Amino acid sequence: LDGVVLDKYERPILSLRITLTNRCNVNCLYCHHDGMVKSKDEMTADELYTICKIAKKIGVRKIRLSGGEPLLKNDIVEIVERIASLDFKDISMTTNGILLEKYAQELKDAGLDRVNVSLDTLNRETFEFITKKDYLEDAKRGILKAVEVGLYPVKINMVIMKDINQDEIDDMFEFCKENNIVLQLIELIESENCDDDKFSVDYHYKLDDIEKELADIADDVREREFMQGRKKYYINGGEIEVVKPVDNAKFCANCSRLRITPDGKIKPCLLRNDNLVELISHVRNGESEEKLEEIFIKGINKREPFNS
Ligand code: GTP
Ligand code: 5AD
Repeated sequence: LDGVVLDKYERPILSLRITLTNRCNVNCLYCHHDGMVKSKDEMTADELYTICKIAKKIGVRKIRLSGGEPLLKNDIVEIVERIASLDFKDISMTTNGILLEKYAQELKDAGLDRVNVSLDTLNRETFEFITKKDYLEDAKRGILKAVEVGLYPVKINMVIMKDINQDEIDDMFEFCKENNIVLQLIELIESENCDDDKFSVDYHYKLDDIEKELADIADDVREREFMQGRKKYYINGGEIEVVKPVDNAKFCANCSRLRITPDGKIKPCLLRNDNLVELISHVRNGESEEKLEEIFIKGINKREPFNS
């Protein structure tokens, strides 16, 4: 881990997750959108380049672009191109896939390595219930296009919700296996910006039983390095990864990620809204790279575990 910055709990900072926008073309019932930022105040391709350049200097290896919906940024291809010129080990995007059919090839050509697509169901009514929109077929076409152009490995993020989609895992896994896609099952986390504050309690579904079943039938099980006790289950030529941010002591202990909010603040922990460190105004003021590095380090020093 040469050249990598450690936080005060000795966790290496390997990955930077940038929320490009809060705007979205769906309205998922569990979404943790953190406040609204006007499009004119969002970070530009130039500013994002500067931020990633500093991240690279302090040892960050991976960039993830997320949202809202990152493909709503008009200059998303340019953003990827600029960041890709910095030569990171991995640049990935988390998207709902609805606009991906149109963008997949251009993104690949611009240097995007891979995509994770949020898709909780293959059932049209359930999709509409979760997202309030009728875009299931668009999302599926986007996913297949990403596979076709080699944004590899394409992953599907399926948030498991009690009585909504927990009985659809088999169908989703079949779809994934047929199309060479990795399935990530995600534990529902509490979301303070959600319209219905009992939602995460009423629909929370513990993934333990599912993991036991997976362990029973798996040909092989591996744990990811620096990755929050995340296990990968290899089953019949397919792959399922289980992400448990809440019900998992290792999640925070092994967290190696720092986040940037859409209004350009360093967010030390995904699950907390305190300790934010202002960054973008310093970039806009043209502060030196040394000064910007210091601000990053300040953000890293504010990292506290959520589940301690
Ligand atoms: P890869 O495994 O590298 O493909 O990324 P990922 O699956 O972690 O990224 P993705 O954006 O697809 O997010 C999937 C899940 O990871 C989310 O539902 C969260 O539970 C968790 N996650 C997302 N962002 C963060 C973050 O900033 N910090 C931490 N610790 N976990 C996160
Ligand atoms: N609980 C769990 N996962 C969530 N995501 C968004 N909100 C929640 C929540 N409340 C997922 C999305 C996306 C990933 C980055 O996080 O489905 O794929």
